[in-house]
Amino acid sequence: MGRDTGGADLSGRVVVVTGGTRGVGAGIARAFAAAGAEVVVCARRPPDVPLDGCAFAPLDLRDAAAVREFFAGLDRVDVLVNNAGGTPYRLLGETDAERHARVIELNLTAPLTVSLAARDRLAAARGAIVMIGSVSGTRASPGTAAYGAAKAGLENLARSMAVEWAPDIRVNTLVLGMVRTESTALHYGDEAGVAAVGATVPLGRLAEPREIGEAAVFLASDAAAYISGASLLVHGGGERPAFLDAATVNKEA
Ligand SMILES: NC(=O)c1ccc[n+]([C@@H]2O[C@H](COP(=O)([O-])OP(=O)(O)OC[C@H]3O[C@@H](n4cnc5c(N)ncnc54)[C@H](OP(=O)(O)O)[C@@H]3O)[C@@H](O)[C@H]2O)c1
Repeated sequence: MGRDTGGADLSGRVVVVTGGTRGVGAGIARAFAAAGAEVVVCARRPPDVPLDGCAFAPLDLRDAAAVREFFAGLDRVDVLVNNAGGTPYRLLGETDAERHARVIELNLTAPLTVSLAARDRLAAARGAIVMIGSVSGTRASPGTAAYGAAKAGLENLARSMAVEWAPDIRVNTLVLGMVRTESTALHYGDEAGVAAVGATVPLGRLAEPREIGEAAVFLASDAAAYISGASLLVHGGGERPAFLDAATVNKEA
């Protein structure tokens, strides 16, 4: 236990991972299970691939009453990972207010609703919340503007929660770059496309969901006991500034 999770031992801790059935969330759920935690993943549909050591609870995070009922049914919650999120690609001028509202509902409102519903349990356990943010919330996000705005808001929400709910609950955000998931081919095409996109990252590749899980375990563990209201970038060095490719001076230096 704990070998792949920086040695963290989370035995006896109960961890809820929203959207933990696939993609990044499944990597997070597996990492917490590897650290010995009791993990519950929630989503609208069960996982396609079994997640060893994790229980599944059906839940639509846009249904606030169902969210409250779900947490009321749990005896204990030590860690909440607000992971569920995402967006379709559509330019601002091609979409409408209703679609924007749905994106903001999933990526910003639901993490607040879920955190409020889990708050008493988390406080009783002196627990931690980990928000899953995105680099899209730190710069322009063309084609996914409402998502970028929601993720920017999520980081800010986490900081306010960290102040209001201290010292009982620590709240931090993992700000992700590109992660390789089951949906990667939809966004970047075949292996050559994925490799080409990976080559734009300083570390030369996309992150694996397991690596996001390891960072989440760290933030939730006692090793991070004095870290709250923080954002941890997990983006492989970030995005290379475009001006470096356009610049004509100093290339020979
Ligand atoms: N993948 C990346 O490169 C990347 C980069 C930056 C940030 N992120 C962030 O990482 C998180 C996970 O992304 P991902 O790529 O792993 O997404 P994903 O593969 O689409 O998985 C999304 C998860 O959320 C669940 N979900 C979606 N809507 C839900 C709802 N209304 N109620 C309950 N569960 C819901 C899905 O299950 P159901 O559909 O069955 O409900 C699924 O488990 C998101 O917050 C995303 O913004 C991802």
